[in-house]
Amino acid sequence: MENIVVFGKGGIGKSTIAANLSAVYARKGSKVLHVGCDPKHDSTVSLVSGALIETFMEKHAKIFGVRDRGDLKAEDILTRGRLGIDCIEAGGPEPGVGCAGRGISLMLESFEELGIMKGGRYDIGMFDVLGDVVCGGFAAPLRKGFAEKIVIVVSEELMALYAANNIAKSVRTYASNGVYLTGLVANLKDGDADRGRINRFARIIGTRVLEFVPRDSAVRKVEMARKETTVERFPQAPFSKSIRSLADKIAKIRKESCPVPKPMDDKRFYGEW
Ligand SMILES: Nc1ncnc2c1ncn2[C@@H]1O[C@H](COP(=O)(O)OP(=O)(O)O)[C@@H](O)[C@H]1O
Ligand SMILES: [Mg+2]
Repeated sequence: MENIVVFGKGGIGKSTIAANLSAVYARKGSKVLHVGCDPKHDSTVSLVSGALIETFMEKHAKIFGVRDRGDLKAEDILTRGRLGIDCIEAGGPEPGVGCAGRGISLMLESFEELGIMKGGRYDIGMFDVLGDVVCGGFAAPLRKGFAEKIVIVVSEELMALYAANNIAKSVRTYASNGVYLTGLVANLKDGDADRGRINRFARIIGTRVLEFVPRDSAVRKVEMARKETTVERFPQAPFSKSIRSLADKIAKIRKESCPVPKPMDDKRFYGEW
């Protein structure tokens, strides 16, 4: 099983890209587990035809109220989506109450107890994780036995690169667990954006830009219909072509070509580069 973690700042396009990647891999015949790790719990919405599934935290509260933890089965927490993709959303507490990262940790503990990541059940684990919060809970997928290939979604905006720099620090911290940064995905907001700046950022932190993904109105059209992913609905759209190319690159990349990142300190980040 190969585990891919898509990190990035809120609103940058993680869920859009992660769900489309899952659809590409599933259509190629891979058995995919898609794991939403954002309290927004909307990562899987396009994979289950527009339904917001009950989150792990909601299920957790219900199931453990009446049943022994030992009776839990994988089917109790997973939802079968389209293309045979198994979906789960960690969920989180009510805004302003509790810790959002805690849900992710609890969910991953259940994965371990139920052996969900073992036994050849899946070929691909796709984790979609909010990355602008510097909180250990959101780094939980970087613990041993979960993450492997890290992808960071950025745009041409400085704060997206700032979040990416912080995520690179987490990747460096957990490198000994076998996690490695495969590269950045530049999900451009503006087609005329300065690609050189993003390439330079990648070089400085010791990684590469895997793909420049274009802004594409096809994504919005599909999102409004809430039924499927863009790669399924508009396979010839520029966005879809770009996602298929990205899926290929992520699948082929090997750890040997991915050095431990060298993120900037904040002073350097805000200086000239
Ligand atoms: N390449 C793109 N072209 C057009 N719209 C996009 C693109 N990438 C993301 N979006 C839109 O941006 C918004 C935020 O994307 P989303 O995937 O929900 O971000 P995140 O999961 O990082 O919070 C969504 O409305 C999505 O449709
Ligand atoms: Mg999201």
